[in-house]
Amino acid sequence: MKKLHFGLFENAQANDTGRATWRHPDNTRENFDTLEYWLELARLCEDGGFDFLFLADAWGWAEVDGERPDVASIEGLDLPRLDPFVVASAILAHTTSLGVVMTGSTLLEQPYPFARRMASLDQLSGGRTGWNIVTTGTAETAVKAFGVPMVAHDERYEMADDFVRLAYRLWEGAWEPDALVKDKCGIFADPAKVHSIRHEGPYFRSEGYGNSAYSPQGTPVLFQAGASPAGRAFGGRHGECMFVGGGSVEQLKAHSTAIREAAVEAGRPAESVKVMAEFRCVVADTEEEARRYYDEVLAAQTADVTVASYAWFTGIDLSSYDPETPMTDLRTEMSQSQISRFAGKTVGDVLAGWREHGAGSSAVLGTPETIADRIIELAEGADLDGFLISPVVQPGSTADFVERVMPILRARGALAESTGATLRERLTGSESATLPADHPAARARAVLQAS
Ligand SMILES: Cc1cc2nc3c(=O)[nH]c(=O)nc-3n(C[C@H](O)[C@H](O)[C@H](O)COP(=O)(O)O)c2cc1C
Repeated sequence: MKKLHFGLFENAQANDTGRATWRHPDNTRENFDTLEYWLELARLCEDGGFDFLFLADAWGWAEVDGERPDVASIEGLDLPRLDPFVVASAILAHTTSLGVVMTGSTLLEQPYPFARRMASLDQLSGGRTGWNIVTTGTAETAVKAFGVPMVAHDERYEMADDFVRLAYRLWEGAWEPDALVKDKCGIFADPAKVHSIRHEGPYFRSEGYGNSAYSPQGTPVLFQAGASPAGRAFGGRHGECMFVGGGSVEQLKAHSTAIREAAVEAGRPAESVKVMAEFRCVVADTEEEARRYYDEVLAAQTADVTVASYAWFTGIDLSSYDPETPMTDLRTEMSQSQISRFAGKTVGDVLAGWREHGAGSSAVLGTPETIADRIIELAEGADLDGFLISPVVQPGSTADFVERVMPILRARGALAESTGATLRERLTGSESATLPADHPAARARAVLQAS
């Protein structure tokens, strides 16, 4: 039996990705901008046995014909948001074992201050942080907002590679783990263990001393979700935990196999990468009741919402195409997976189906037992290491999952039940909080410390 890890998929905004669900009377997501909202969820996750709470993030907004459509504001589709690092800081301060995974963009952040921000949170939380490395699929509006040039899809992964290599130097090589002595009668830091770094990459440069000392994990746990060939190769080189969207056993198996092959190609063991699939469900006493409830939640998912939210991810106005157009005829330099996942479908199919799944996956509707069965079937059949639970309404979806489904998984021996103090120890079962020697970040440490 697979021993599974669980995380909660969240977003510091009023809706989940590409769906307008905030109006449902049970949903409290409009309170995403209050501390109480996050602390309630964090408590549910920590007490319920989740390994981490994941904060997705995007920059930019929906644009159709060069304008942000009114429906985006009316339904709170894309904006406003809170900064995931600030939300994470509050959650980490009020929890003791829960990990928090933050999304940070290698297109829009600057590596030097970004490395300090991550190290600060890792330090203060005792090593409970993870970084979801994204190249920002919603790039076209985001680059306008930042006043930086657009970078094409595959090149964004080259930029990401350069970004992480500089970050590794700062996290792993600038300060040795035991550089801080803090001896009032002796020294504060050992100068022999504080190194100057130099990085001259194609996109980023830095020279000098790191601004923060070695944190408990050194490098935060590296999460990634690249699905294109360039994205997978990047994930294979750097990812410790790869997210995949939902799907059938066969689709997920193909994803997990490709991810493990990419790791092997990068000289890392196949099992060094944990694969976690997004999983959305509605738990009820009967499947019919779950279906009824889900229909209620989806009531505000109009055709206008579909067009606006699809445009947000891809820049493409689906309403301007003949519904018979095959999806694979469309082109974008934004989120290409929002085209490739619909291979074999037409524009009309997507316009009809988006109501239910938005940018994510369709929900599994059922009783606690049938949902637990499905999770075990997917994990065993597709070689998955865990699931990212994507809520339908909050906090109800999280509460239903931890209170009704987790106990069944626990009784069946399907939970990893990790106890490590740091997020890396929890997820890998390793006794070390830092990256193994076969990861490129650990190599950055070795090179600098030898110099
Ligand atoms: C579960 C999951 C979570 C994701 N979270 C984010 C996110 O927070 N921000 C973001 O810009 N992209 C996010 N993505 C998109 C991926 O980073 C990636 O761009 C996408 O899977 C397409 O792969 P590609 O970039 O290789 O084309 C997520 C994808 C998945 C499957």
